[in-house]
Amino acid sequence: MEVRQSDFGNGTNLFSMVNDNGVRLDVSDFGARIVNLVVPTDTGERNIVLGFESSEDYTTQDSYIGATIGRVAGRINSGRFKLDGKTYQVQTNTEAGHTLHGGAPSFEGKIWQSQIIRTEDEVSVMFTLTSPDGENGFPGNLTTSVTYSLNNQNEWTLVYQAQTDQTTLYNPTNHVYFNLTGDVETPIDGHELTVMADQFAVLNSDGTVTGEKRDVSGTSFDFRTAKSLKDCFELANGAQKDLFSGIDHPFFLSHEKGADVILQSPDGKVSVEVETDQETIVIFTANFGQDKMDMRGKTLGHHGGITFETQAAPGAIEFEDFGEIVLRPDQVYHAKTIYRLKF
Ligand code: GAL
Repeated sequence: MEVRQSDFGNGTNLFSMVNDNGVRLDVSDFGARIVNLVVPTDTGERNIVLGFESSEDYTTQDSYIGATIGRVAGRINSGRFKLDGKTYQVQTNTEAGHTLHGGAPSFEGKIWQSQIIRTEDEVSVMFTLTSPDGENGFPGNLTTSVTYSLNNQNEWTLVYQAQTDQTTLYNPTNHVYFNLTGDVETPIDGHELTVMADQFAVLNSDGTVTGEKRDVSGTSFDFRTAKSLKDCFELANGAQKDLFSGIDHPFFLSHEKGADVILQSPDGKVSVEVETDQETIVIFTANFGQDKMDMRGKTLGHHGGITFETQAAPGAIEFEDFGEIVLRPDQVYHAKTIYRLKF
């Protein structure tokens, strides 16, 4: 296994981790993000995640792609919340007046400190960042790290840690988009998806949660046995997916046994299994509509990728049974997600 470092533009770096099976995981200190994930197949190499070729492209096109998201992933209704009796108003950055992904800019726009770590079993890059007290309105100096690792079992692992000096909110995630065809111009419709979740969060049209957890049975969001994404997108009776022209929803994981999520390429040659200690996974099927992006010399369109954002559910500060995102000075935040690659 090896790690190489190269220039990623504007003072940022790209770190390439390569394992003994030829899997390559490229990450950047710009937004502590995943940029490329390349796997070998019998028909050649495939880059199975969305990403751009320089840090500048993220700034001009979409800075969330592949990034570490924080302090709070997803929407905070009106940017308002109460902590220990005190009301906070944090920065809002959506048209509807909510806070998305911790306000902007946030983790995705920062150059993180980086450190390469080699052990017998894996290679890692650890990114660290201190978000100062009051940043985008959030209390507490928050010291965070996210470590990307690759091993010879073809597992990409993400470990998050954080500490704060004042009670605050913390709910990070990673905004990786997969497209297992390796071609950003092929929509993910033909992929097969399994999600071990009995319930999902119902959304309002502005993307905030209503507070209702709905049983997936009989809805377009029942992925408990593998089904093609096309079957979800094309189902006639699917008010929730029609609101967003795809999926943009939190799924509450049942954590039975084995993988929480499995995604398989249309040709069956590549699959990704996600296993997380988080309670929820937000799945977003890149519902970009007419908004196209230039990516690696091609055009990324509607449904060009699918995210698996492991976290506590958005709305956790409003609705008790959506998870816990309060971080106190005597606690250490810890979360882990494994993406297991099969090819
Ligand atoms: C997702 C969110 C979407 C969209 C996207 C960023 O996590 O659920 O609504 O904002 O991030 O493009």
